[in-house]
Amino acid sequence: MKRSAWVAIDFAALQHNLRQVRAYAPESQVMAVIKANAYGHGVLPVAEALNSANGFAVSCIEEALELRHAGFIHPILVLQGHQNFADLQTAASNKLRLVIHDYAQLQWLEQFPLSKPIDVALKIDTGMHRLGIPASEARKVYQQLNDNRHIKRGCWLMTHFSCADDTSCDYTDRQISLFRQQTHGIQTVRSMANSAGIIAWKASHANWVRPGIMLYGSSPMLNGDRDKQGLKAVMSLYAPLIAIHNLNKGDAIGYGATWTCPEDMPVGVVACGYADGYPRHAPSGTPVWVNGKESQILGRVSMDMISIDLRGCYADVGDTVELWGKHISIDRVAALAGTISYELLCNVGNLCQRL
Ligand SMILES: Cc1ncc(COP(=O)(O)O)c(C=O)c1O
Repeated sequence: MKRSAWVAIDFAALQHNLRQVRAYAPESQVMAVIKANAYGHGVLPVAEALNSANGFAVSCIEEALELRHAGFIHPILVLQGHQNFADLQTAASNKLRLVIHDYAQLQWLEQFPLSKPIDVALKIDTGMHRLGIPASEARKVYQQLNDNRHIKRGCWLMTHFSCADDTSCDYTDRQISLFRQQTHGIQTVRSMANSAGIIAWKASHANWVRPGIMLYGSSPMLNGDRDKQGLKAVMSLYAPLIAIHNLNKGDAIGYGATWTCPEDMPVGVVACGYADGYPRHAPSGTPVWVNGKESQILGRVSMDMISIDLRGCYADVGDTVELWGKHISIDRVAALAGTISYELLCNVGNLCQRL
């Protein structure tokens, strides 16, 4: 179904952001994280634009197969690994590297003979307590994997950070230390850093970095500024202005009548709402860009529409409004709406048409 709001994807900005990753981590290979339809940007065109990345990371086997079927021959890391025996066979025949994070996966590997040996990465839980083998068990499980004849030699070691966006706490330092300590002396490939690790924790760079959000031009840091980090917005969200009203002082706007005009003023209606993935919790004052000028939303976001302040703007019905993108940082919108750019990108990217 074609609705009025749309997103534009700037592939040159995506490639610029990949160069930024390499500038931050010049010694590391880059595993571009393009899971969840490349954070809503469209996985195949994104993979094409990021062809010069050294590898891709996706969530599950199905996402990896989409890349293989499209002809991508890059190393592919499957972050959730295998969930059954069929996944193991598929991974082996499609040369996918599986993340091993749970003992059930080890059992499948041991019980079922594979026709071809498989590449794996052992994920070690250094403090996030989501996926991963306890750090204290890492050495033993690594050995077990290396001894398994169904596994190719050279099992990778990896971990994931929970607080790397926050440089005021030492949690990431402790995760890096624990990872180093528990894997000391093992000669193999290592990977730790997500985007925040790449920007703020040099000690985490290792052999492969795994950037996601920074490739899409959003700051991975708490209260971060994409411009200062040299990142460019990849997705812009646009919608047309479909009505303009000259309201009177005291008129209230939208559901719940939560915003009242402080003076006689022009108010525009933009054809985009929470059905398009725009966050309903974005409050009055959230910025938008209208014909070269920053303005703001007024009142509650509704399903298909948002009201905006047109004081000082030259605007006509039919003009295009930017809800975020090159002029309005998605990080500002996300912070005001009490969420993160990741969620907005995934929602909007999977709901709106891409032009
Ligand atoms: C294991 C793993 N590595 C890397 C990333 C990329 O993280 P970011 O988008 O914060 O760079 C993710 C994303 O969630 C992940 O799950």
